[in-house]
Amino acid sequence: ALITLRQLLDHAAEHGYGVPAFNINNMEQGLAICQAAKQTDAPVIIQASRGARQYAGDLMLAKLIEGLQALYPEIPICMHQDHGNNAATCLSAIQHGFTSVMMDGSLGEDGKTPTDYDYNVGVTKKVTEMAHMVGASVEGELGCLGSLETGSGEAEDGHGFEGKLDREKLLTDPDQAAEFVAETKVDALAVAIGTSHGAYKFTQKPTGDVLAMNVIEAIHQKLPDTHLVMHGSSSVPQELQEEFNKWGGEMPQTYGVPVEEIVRGIKHGVRKVNIDTDLRIACAATLRRVATEDKSQFDPRKFLKPAVAAMKEVCVARLEAFGTAGWA
Ligand code: G3H
Ligand code: 13P
Ligand code: NA
Ligand code: ZN
Repeated sequence: ALITLRQLLDHAAEHGYGVPAFNINNMEQGLAICQAAKQTDAPVIIQASRGARQYAGDLMLAKLIEGLQALYPEIPICMHQDHGNNAATCLSAIQHGFTSVMMDGSLGEDGKTPTDYDYNVGVTKKVTEMAHMVGASVEGELGCLGSLETGSGEAEDGHGFEGKLDREKLLTDPDQAAEFVAETKVDALAVAIGTSHGAYKFTQKPTGDVLAMNVIEAIHQKLPDTHLVMHGSSSVPQELQEEFNKWGGEMPQTYGVPVEEIVRGIKHGVRKVNIDTDLRIACAATLRRVATEDKSQFDPRKFLKPAVAAMKEVCVARLEAFGTAGWA
């Protein structure tokens, strides 16, 4: 059944688990996510970016979710708009059956330019008022995703915006977070702690000076009842990088958000954990392997079926690590 983010995260908070939010733009990702949720008896969040909606088309995406729901009626699924850039994007998502939206007012409508606090409060509040009228949930964001190593923030497309931001401007301020939640009435709050989208988050295994888990603890102390969201939370596991490179890929050594840090976050109020890149790498590594091992192969299913299995494996691992397993 489709459920709202509020329903799901209230349950997660009550029982102390976190929920991965996996990005979707095609059928194979949908099958992998739902097969994993079924196998682990877990609820799950499926989210589509603006780019995903453009790629698949709103109608196709809506029907895909309808199909997944019908195939897996026992799995509670929340369908979420990832990084909505304005009210229109959020409302049209709801019209297409999404039960939850992110209004990312930390960036402007271009999805790139950092905004000021008043703009963010205004646009987020507007979306929350409308979404709540029709029973949909809202995630807001305060602070800017981006690297504490370079001071470069990051837009939705993974490209840094221009100029450097100092640590204080990038990271979510706990006092401001409390004010933001009170003013906007969001159901969940995305916080900035030094992670960025994509594969290239950290140049070495992150320590506290580049991955500010202490900020999560400080926000959770001020806002014990608010569901916190971690973006840019792919772990970019070493074995996936090696598998990708083994079959001719050229991914320079990189480090993501260690699963154990996410688990620590879940102990301090993190309830939604956004993961896209890990599934992309698992899929692409498999496509490379089949293309290399079976050079005469041209049936897409022979590439995509093992790719679904590889993505499913990543989903199962996160559902188990975050304590989501068993709560469907
Ligand atoms: O926000 C980042 C997600 O990974 C979605 O990426 O905009 O390329 O679909 P996308
Ligand atoms: P990753 O690129 O780390 O998978 O993050 C995805 C994300 O935050 C989507 O909103
Ligand atoms: Na989101
Ligand atoms: Zn994100």
